[in-house]
Amino acid sequence: MAINADIFYKAALKYTQEAGQLIREKISVVNKTVEIKSCEIDLVTETDQQVEKLLIGNLSKEFPDHLFIGEESVANGTKCNLTDDPTWIIDPIDGTMNFVHRFPHSCISIALFINKKPEVAIIYNPIIEQLFTAKRGHGAYLNGKKIRVSGENDLSKALIVMEYGTSRDVEKLKVVAANQDMLMSQVHGIRALGSAALDIAMVAMGAADAYFEFGIHIWDIAAGELMVTEAGGVIMDPSGGPIDRLSRRILVASSNSLAKQLSEKLIQYYPTPTD
Ligand code: IPD
Ligand code: CA
Repeated sequence: MAINADIFYKAALKYTQEAGQLIREKISVVNKTVEIKSCEIDLVTETDQQVEKLLIGNLSKEFPDHLFIGEESVANGTKCNLTDDPTWIIDPIDGTMNFVHRFPHSCISIALFINKKPEVAIIYNPIIEQLFTAKRGHGAYLNGKKIRVSGENDLSKALIVMEYGTSRDVEKLKVVAANQDMLMSQVHGIRALGSAALDIAMVAMGAADAYFEFGIHIWDIAAGELMVTEAGGVIMDPSGGPIDRLSRRILVASSNSLAKQLSEKLIQYYPTPTD
C-alpha cells in the first residue's frame, strides 16, 4: 500500500520549526551548562534535551504507534533499534559543539523511516534559516526551492567535506588526518561544518561534492540520506559497498563515479562502540 507521507511531513515540519525557536533563542547564551557524554568533546546541553523532548512528546501524541530513536534518549539508555515499524530518527541538535561555541551551524535533523526506508526528512538550521526538506519521490528543497547535487564526477575538481568527529581515539584521529593529508593535494578543497546533517545538506544543494565520516551515528545521517538521494546524489559505505546505517560509516557524493574514486583512495576505519 502506498504511504501518504504528507500528514507525517506536516507534523514534523510544525514541531521542528517550533523546536527551532529554542535553538535560535539559546545559541547566544555565552556560558551554557554543558555535560559530557562518551568523552570530553561529546557534549550535551539542556537545549539538546528540550528539543528532543518537544519533538518526541508531540509526535508520539499524534502518532501513538510510531517508534523513536533520539540521540539523547539513546544516551540515557533507550535501545537504538531500527525495525520495519514507522520510526522517527531524531538528532535534536546536530552540531552541539558549534551550538556551545555560538558557531552558527547547528540544526535539527529528523527523518521518518517506514520498512527501514526514509519517507520524510527535515534538516533545519534555525540560526541562519536554512530549512532543507524532502519526501520520498518528491525531490529535496531548501527554503521551498528545489535543490540538486552538483553532479561533479572528477575528484580533482571536487570540494570534499570531512570531519574529525566527537572521539579522541588516537587510531581513528590518525586515519582521519592521513585521509586529509592524502586528499589535500588531489581535490579542489576540504571543508568541515561540524554538523554531519548540514555537511550532507551541502552535498544535496550542490555546494559541496562529497562527504565522508567514520564514527557518525544513525541520527546524524538519517535525514541526510533522503535529502541527498532525492537531490540526485548517492549514499554508500566509504568502502564503496552498500550503506549500513548502524555501522557508523558514511560516504555521500554528487555522483557514483565521484563516490567510487573517493572510496578507492580512502584509508578505511571501522569504529568501535566507544569511538
Ligand atoms: C556530531 C556532528 C559532527 C560529526 C560527529 C557527530 P552532534 O553530532 O554531526 O559534525 O563529526 O560525528 O557526532 O554530537 O553534534 O550531535
Ligand atoms: Ca549529531
